[in-house]
Parts: sequence; structure tokens; C-alpha cells
Amino acid sequence: MPPTSASVPRHLAVIMDGNGRWAERRRRPRIIGHRAGARAVNVCIDFCLERGVRALTLFAFSSENWGRPQEEVGALMKLFMNALDREVEELNRRGVRIRFIGERERFSAGIRERMDAAENQTRANSRLDLVIAASYGGRQDIALAARALAIDVAAGRLRAEDIDEAAIASKMALADLPPPDLFIRTGGDQRISNFLLWQLAYTELWFTELLWPELDAATLQLAIDDYARRERRFGLTSAQVADAAPENSPA
Ligand code: IPE
Ligand code: IPE
Ligand code: MG
Repeated sequence: MPPTSASVPRHLAVIMDGNGRWAERRRRPRIIGHRAGARAVNVCIDFCLERGVRALTLFAFSSENWGRPQEEVGALMKLFMNALDREVEELNRRGVRIRFIGERERFSAGIRERMDAAENQTRANSRLDLVIAASYGGRQDIALAARALAIDVAAGRLRAEDIDEAAIASKMALADLPPPDLFIRTGGDQRISNFLLWQLAYTELWFTELLWPELDAATLQLAIDDYARRERRFGLTSAQVADAAPENSPA
């Protein structure tokens, strides 16, 4: 496995945006863009495996995306199902651990079963943590954490005065992973769109006009190079950061 240097993010989070526009520019139905976007997912996974990125979180479908035309949602679900059938075996062989975050209950039984199976099959892998955010919303994530803590308090397992950042973090999605070091959004819009709101607090943000189906390794390399040049201060001064060893920086 290639070594992970400080210049390579441990955890990369990606908003895969621009599939619809990619298709519309070609006067094709939007779903053709989603299909082309599936190829870019593999480009991104390959890049992470080659460069030693240890965790990759991909925003595949937001809580709000359920509101799109029924035809598009249906086609996306079919695509999702096919991707699970097609890709899991190979990802497992390559040492990828697959997980899903988001409201799983909203998916059909067929998709839920495939999600569970993919997670179970790849549980022991450790080369790359691949997290697919599907029916995920950052606000929902925070609301569910608050609810879980309230349940613990009501059951007498937790005192309200003991609720702190660590307690909330422990109930959020990705609790066992370091927060994303680098966030990439394709498609030209510079917004978070209700992705990982809590977890992105100190993540470096990087945007590109490139549409998701156009993604290539060279663009990902540009993002990583830019990331490597940045100084992450976590609220401290530049001098303090220079004095501290990299492993002393807050996670
Ligand atoms: C992202 O591409 C994929 C999903 C949200 C499922 P879009 O479908 O949002 O593409 P644009 O932004 O309309 O071009
Ligand atoms: C964000 O893209 C969600 C995903 C890529 C899955 P959207 O296309 O839904 O975001 P907005 O609507 O432009 O903010
Ligand atoms: Mg979009």
C-alpha cells in the first residue's frame, strides 16, 4: 500500500454534481448523465486506492433529491441497484470496505438488501473506507444524533450536563472516521447542499467547474496539490502551526 503523507488527505469527501447538465448539453435525457457519472465514481475510487487516501465519502443522493421528478428518481434507483450488483465483488477483491449513510428505510427492500450485503461482505477490508451517502442530509444527521442523546438521557444512561461535542460526534454518521480533510465539489456551484455539515467544520474546500462525468485523475491531482499547499490552522496562528508537529494538529 502506498504511504500516506501529510500532503495526501486521509479522508476525501465529494459532491458528485453536474450529471444532469452534462447530459442536457448533449441534448440527452438527464439519466444518461447519471449513467456517465457512474464511470467517474470508479475514476475517483481508483485514484484514492493509488494515492493512499484511506477514506472516501461520496454524496450520491441527498434527502432533498427525493423531490425530483418521479421518472428521474426511479431511474436513479435502478442505476443504484445495478451498480451494487456490478461493482461490489470487485471492490471487495481490492480491499475496499463499503458503507452507507443516510435514511436507508426510504429505499426499496431490494436496494436495502444489497446495501446490507455489500456492508457485510466487505466489513473486514481496510485498504479504503468507501462511504456512500444516499438519502443523506446533514441536518437530518444532526437531528438524529440529538434524538439518540435525548433517548439516552431519558433512559438514565446519560446526564444532560454531560452532552458535549464529543457526545454529539459519537452519534453522528462517520463517527469512527477522521473528519474529511478535503472536500471536492464538481459542477461549478460553490455550496454544501446539506452534505456533512458537522463533519466539514475544518475541512478544506475545493471546487471545480468540471461536470462530474468529466472527472479525471488529473483534476483530482490538482485538488490534492492545492490541498498540500494550504496551511490548516484550526483557529491557531501560523507560528503555532509551524511549531507543532503534524500529528499534534486537531483531528
Ligand atoms: C448530481 O448531478 C447527481 C445527483 C444529485 C443524484 P445532478 O443530477 O444534480 O446534475 P445537475 O446539477 O442537475 O447538472
Ligand atoms: C447535491 O447536489 C447532492 C448530490 C450530488 C447527491 P444537488 O444537485 O442536489 O444540489 P443543489 O440542488 O444544486 O444544491
Ligand atoms: Mg446538481
